[in-house]
Amino acid sequence: MFRIDRNLTADELHKSLRADVAEGLTARPKRLPPKWFYDEHGSSLFEEITGLPEYYPTRTERAILEERSDEIARAADAVALIELGSGSGVKTRLLLDALGRHGTLKRFVPVDVSGDFLAASARRVADDHPGLDVHAVVGDFEHHLGLLPVNEHDGREMLAVLGSTIGNQAPAARGVFLRAVHAALDPGDTLLLGADLVKDPERLVAAYDDAQGVTAAFDRNVLTVINQRLGGDFDPGAFDHVAVWDPEREWIEMRLRARSHQRVRVADLDLEVDFAAGEEMRTEISAKFRRDGLTAELDAAGFTLTHWWTDPAGDFALSLSTVR
Ligand code: AVJ
Repeated sequence: MFRIDRNLTADELHKSLRADVAEGLTARPKRLPPKWFYDEHGSSLFEEITGLPEYYPTRTERAILEERSDEIARAADAVALIELGSGSGVKTRLLLDALGRHGTLKRFVPVDVSGDFLAASARRVADDHPGLDVHAVVGDFEHHLGLLPVNEHDGREMLAVLGSTIGNQAPAARGVFLRAVHAALDPGDTLLLGADLVKDPERLVAAYDDAQGVTAAFDRNVLTVINQRLGGDFDPGAFDHVAVWDPEREWIEMRLRARSHQRVRVADLDLEVDFAAGEEMRTEISAKFRRDGLTAELDAAGFTLTHWWTDPAGDFALSLSTVR
């Protein structure tokens, strides 16, 4: 069974891009939110990043899932898997197969902003799992959690946010997000959260500034998105990619640094902005976590952390928490 709800139209998406770019390019220092990296080209660059030798998170999380999926399925004992930002779907399949073996799974609800990508991958899951009710939802999970088909009261539900996606938000925004997830769920439901862990800064920086320059191309792609969708005239080649570790806030920042003075026009916003030579614009934060800190954040949002699984090196963690 397959159906798709569209809570986010192309028009709404365009409006929120306009608002984010207008706000970010006039802020001091300038910034852009990372969600606009992921047009078709950006999504394929991200897929390429996940296979780079320096970028350990994806393969590490997958290895943990391969080893622990049956344990996760037993602990969650869920009739429904709701997945926010489902990516390429490899990890999704591991979870669906384990919940299938456990014998409780009836429903899969993948949620993503990228409608075409979502429709195609959700339909493949439906084709491969006859009898599974696949209900895809196009939406921005920062804003549309209240619209998800959850709480159908036929059993426990598990909501998964994998890939350390939560690290793209600063602590205050994470608190708001986790409370919204909590509000969407019922007591006894579970949250499966993937979190990249604090480690040697050299490895962290390398993961966000790879030798082949794929991450640099991914970073600059946000300028191309603005050019194409908002009539901008950025010269992406005039910006250097920068990745820095902030040891106080324990996050990686990606930035674009103007190599020389740049005057940029964004026609659709009727906006002209100047970048001084050397000026840096923040394009992403990727927070890294510690067990104690994440447990406390979850606790503050009404979750009790019950399981914590890591790889042998302690690079990445998968946690399972229950809604109180
Ligand atoms: C998809 C947000 C988890 O922060 O590691 C990869 C995105 N940025 N390389 C991350 C990303 C640069 C990624 N997340």
